Amino acid sequence: MLPRVLLTRRIPSSVFTRLTGQCDVDLYDGEGAIPRPELKRRLADKEGVISVLTDKIDAEMMDAGPALKIIANIAVGYDNIDVAAARTRGIIVSNTPDVLTEAVAEFTWALILGLARRVAEGDRLIRGDRWETWGLDFMLGMELRGKQLGIIGGGRIGRAVAAKASAFGMTTAIASRGTTHTPGRMSLDELLVTSDVVSIHTPLTPETHHLIDRRALARMKRSAMLVNTARGPVVDEDALVWALGEHLIAGAALDVYNKEPDVSLALRQFENILLTPHLGSATRETRTAMADLAVRNVLGVLTGHEALTPVT
Ligand code: GLV
Repeated sequence: MLPRVLLTRRIPSSVFTRLTGQCDVDLYDGEGAIPRPELKRRLADKEGVISVLTDKIDAEMMDAGPALKIIANIAVGYDNIDVAAARTRGIIVSNTPDVLTEAVAEFTWALILGLARRVAEGDRLIRGDRWETWGLDFMLGMELRGKQLGIIGGGRIGRAVAAKASAFGMTTAIASRGTTHTPGRMSLDELLVTSDVVSIHTPLTPETHHLIDRRALARMKRSAMLVNTARGPVVDEDALVWALGEHLIAGAALDVYNKEPDVSLALRQFENILLTPHLGSATRETRTAMADLAVRNVLGVLTGHEALTPVT
């Protein structure tokens, strides 16, 4: 009998076909996230689940799936999964590192450039029929050349973002927990005080929850910009609204939010905030590679091998 696997979202057909060739697949085919009671019910007889970041897989869910051997998350972040609960139950958790690094780094640069040069604001102006004339001092932005990019989180994505900084003539500073000798390393405090662009690339953990709070925002230069492509709750959104309202920073670009897909009206009121709907890894190439890696993790574990990219 083939192992039973729950797939909570549709995945590219080439990858799906490989999975169905080796597993008995139960695909949730609805639009959007699988409702929690449905997830719980469908887990009952499954040995594997391929999940995404909108699926909260906690101890209650794991207990609903007593045969579960692997939870393969199609994401590099895995704050939606209670990894400690999985460990005590002998369930492997895997994520999709590496394959999305460049896509997220490219997108981070799209946000940095878009924010610094007011791209979305200009687009809104034209669509609103509000462009009157070209002007020498019209819609001036911040030049990146000669500025410092401060990166919070020295992992793969943070380093990939840093690697592109010299192409724009920026210097980089990195604040990270590790003890490795990262060039340009700084304390978080020094990075906040000295950077012109601060970009967040740290996972969401109890330690990084609201890492960017009122105090951190007040440390930043008034001319500096904040970019978040990591996880929403790393930034205290109320504190960000306060900092933008008080002109304590020059702008922000967010791809992730405290309660996706809800983006508060308080955030939306500012012209100098660039908002995108969690698109960091959203390229055809990368999403296919992520699904492929999750499938390989499931097939590996369910045929008695190791996961390729376990999180612990
Ligand atoms: C997306 O947010 C991911 O963690 O891969």
